[in-house]
Amino acid sequence: MSHTKQTEPQADIDELAREHFYQVLYGRRDVRNQFLPDPVPDDVLTNILHAAHHAPSVGLSQPWNFILIRNPELRNQIYSAFCQANDEAAQMFEGDRRSQYQSLKLQGILDAPLNVCITCDRNRGGPVVLGKTHQPEMDLYSTVCAVQNFWLSARAENVGVGWVSIINKNKLAGLLKLPEGVVPVAYLCVGYVSEFLTKPELELSNWEKRKQLEEMIFDDTWANRKG
Ligand SMILES: Cc1cc2nc3c(=O)[nH]c(=O)nc-3n(C[C@H](O)[C@H](O)[C@H](O)COP(=O)(O)O)c2cc1C
Repeated sequence: MSHTKQTEPQADIDELAREHFYQVLYGRRDVRNQFLPDPVPDDVLTNILHAAHHAPSVGLSQPWNFILIRNPELRNQIYSAFCQANDEAAQMFEGDRRSQYQSLKLQGILDAPLNVCITCDRNRGGPVVLGKTHQPEMDLYSTVCAVQNFWLSARAENVGVGWVSIINKNKLAGLLKLPEGVVPVAYLCVGYVSEFLTKPELELSNWEKRKQLEEMIFDDTWANRKG
């Protein structure tokens, strides 16, 4: 299916479209607990992948690939890799914080009907890529832009996404048979949900809360905090 959701070039965004855009943006959630087993139809997945593929990228290098993971045996292996990393992670917190960490559900690898790994080919575009000459990590950031497009488009399709980073990345690369120079950037659990929570799950479980925007803004230099 083609990416029919694209608008005409130069089309103004009207008020309703703007309202819907913010509804999608603020309504996006990281999902771990609410996945339903219903499969994501191919045309919906194609819309989401097209949106991801239309992310900005350094020198238009498009360094991403999308590995669609459905095989239950492979997913069990990835889940084991998560469990190992999660146990290691728990040991890094002390006291009450450790037990609180252990009570959190931080993945939906086996619950979601689809897992997607978005990778970055560090060599895409050859040894000299416009825009990467002085900041070679820009290909990784480009791939993260694709992840965010994926996440927002999924929300627009009423599909939930959960990012799982608590996995040893070399182990993940091995399980997915990634070639030399291709690295995993995001491991995503993807599927329909029973509900989208109104706030981040980590906020609802009192792990962390959203900071004030004013704390984040500076005038001209780091020395001049606005708030
Ligand atoms: C780079 C990145 C890695 C993340 N890794 C995990 C993870 O391993 N497990 C998890 O449960 N959530 C993970 N998250 C989700 C965050 O916890 C979540 O985005 C944050 O709490 C805000 O919630 P929201 O996305 O629902 O707004 C990750 C998010 C990002 C951007």
